[in-house]
Amino acid sequence: MNSVEQLVVTAQADFLAAPDAAALENAKAKYLGKTGQITELMKGLGKLAADERKAQGAIINAGKEQIENALTARREALANAQMLLRLNAEAIDVTLPGRGRSLGGLHPVMRSWERIEAIFGSIGFEVADGPEIENDWTNFTALNNPENHPARSMQDTFYIDGKDATGLPLLLRPHTSPMQVRYARRNKPPIKVIAPGRTYRVDSDATHSPMFHQVEGLWIADNISFADLKGVYLNFVKAFFETDDLQVRFRPSYFPFTEPSAEIDIAFGSGPLKGRWLEVSGAGQVHPNVVRNFGLDPEQFVGFAFGSGIERLTMLRYGINDLRLFYEGDLRFLKQFN
Ligand code: PHE
Repeated sequence: MNSVEQLVVTAQADFLAAPDAAALENAKAKYLGKTGQITELMKGLGKLAADERKAQGAIINAGKEQIENALTARREALANAQMLLRLNAEAIDVTLPGRGRSLGGLHPVMRSWERIEAIFGSIGFEVADGPEIENDWTNFTALNNPENHPARSMQDTFYIDGKDATGLPLLLRPHTSPMQVRYARRNKPPIKVIAPGRTYRVDSDATHSPMFHQVEGLWIADNISFADLKGVYLNFVKAFFETDDLQVRFRPSYFPFTEPSAEIDIAFGSGPLKGRWLEVSGAGQVHPNVVRNFGLDPEQFVGFAFGSGIERLTMLRYGINDLRLFYEGDLRFLKQFN
């Protein structure tokens, strides 16, 4: 065996012994690299006489080709082994039964939201939507909430770092009432709208959540009175709870943006909550200062507003006793509504 044949045998053994692609490329360099043994042999050809160079050159070339073939074969073998490993790792058992595709369902709060839109829609209320990140003017000032009123304190409102484009402080709206201002400033009376949506307060226990839902109602025209509020709200709760056996009471209260103001309580005539007064909403006649901030003349335009908690209405409708159930995403709870 001449030295080239010897070299081929060693290279083939070396390649076979390489456990992975990196090791194989290292082994290749020993023979075919810039200073590899085959390369060195080629360089040596120059020193030989012409006929010897031709003969020796042919031998070296044949050896080089064999080494290259061995390299290619090993490369493919390693790549195949790699692929096999991956295929095994990613194998799926096609004989397993399918998981099926279960249909999603509406969250109970969303069901109430849609019911509320349908009920108020049926008596001519539009539905409006607005930002959850609100500015200080729309949320407080325009709603007749003076600069140093306690409702502005850090206690119950999530403030946001930075200001809006006009330099106003930003916050997560703690109620949907700023939607009164947004809608009324953009639409001509008669204004008859509800604005359901998410609201936020620094508050968390069995009856309070930092994120919850309200629905704002606003009806402004030239003669909308507290009596209309009573009629509309009574009609709403009867439709929402699907019963006529229910009473509504308006308890005097205070909100900066309504005058007079009331809390609306309801009492069912039957069922597990029979006879208990349950608070469901704040409400009142829109304060003249607020009507002015709508861009309207309070001598000409009057009306009512209300703001109801959607979770609260939902809990009463279904007999749910812990608000936190709404946000835990437990399917055992959620499936009961679908
Ligand atoms: N925004 C009030 C609250 O969140 C509710 C309310 C709305 C009261 C409209 C009066 C009129 O408590």
